Amino acid sequence: MPDTEHAHHAFLRQTTLPDGTPIRIRRIRADGAAELQRAFHQLSPGARNQRFLARKDRLTAEELDFLTHADGRDHLALVVAVLDAAGSEVDKIAVARSVRDRSDPSVAEVAVIVKDEWHRRGVGEALLTNLAAWAWQTGVRRWRAYYWKDNAGIQRLLAKVGVKRYEQRESPGILEAEYALQAPPG
Ligand SMILES: CC(C)(COP(=O)(O)OP(=O)(O)OC[C@H]1O[C@@H](n2cnc3c(N)ncnc32)[C@H](O)[C@@H]1OP(=O)(O)O)[C@@H](O)C(=O)NCCC(=O)NCCS
Repeated sequence: MPDTEHAHHAFLRQTTLPDGTPIRIRRIRADGAAELQRAFHQLSPGARNQRFLARKDRLTAEELDFLTHADGRDHLALVVAVLDAAGSEVDKIAVARSVRDRSDPSVAEVAVIVKDEWHRRGVGEALLTNLAAWAWQTGVRRWRAYYWKDNAGIQRLLAKVGVKRYEQRESPGILEAEYALQAPPG
């Protein structure tokens, strides 16, 4: 795909969570910085720490710029929005991204966060299943992830979309793991 097509590739899925909540899974928007900062402040300090592996009180302008400018080729980023009966987005509840490794184009680093009150309702699984399928289309075959060693949720979630190839200590308390993705059905 030429670069311009990657930039405009309109990833869009409408589906429901296991409890019937209608959701849309779509690309993050380049003008979504204010929205992302707002959502970040609605997260608990613990969830932010699990995502960024350190205390994190705010996103800087540079971070917001990076997080909202996903090119659709080497940096894929998807948002989950809850829909009302008319199909309008009433809440953004999760975001995940896959950022290709500079030295090995078949590997990307994955990161995900779901708003606390939506945990354990299938949001992470819906999001990462779609992100993995898109990543596969762009040539990514393995996801690398970093997490606190006691983060059972991310380990369980990643095991749903890939097969663990290794897990090793990256720094005190933090593990690095790699998961082989599977070809999406069809
Ligand atoms: C990790 C995280 C993304 C999981 O999202 P989620 O929407 O709760 O995940 P799902 O509801 O889709 O659950 C997927 C699986 O993980 C399991 N799971 C989720 N949270 C769990 C937890 N805290 N402990 C054990 N299992 C957990 C679920 O039970 C489910 O497995 P099952 O279907 O076999 O029961 C979410 O907890 C989160 O945002 N955490 C903070 C950020 C973070 O840790 N990011 C990881 C580093 S990038």
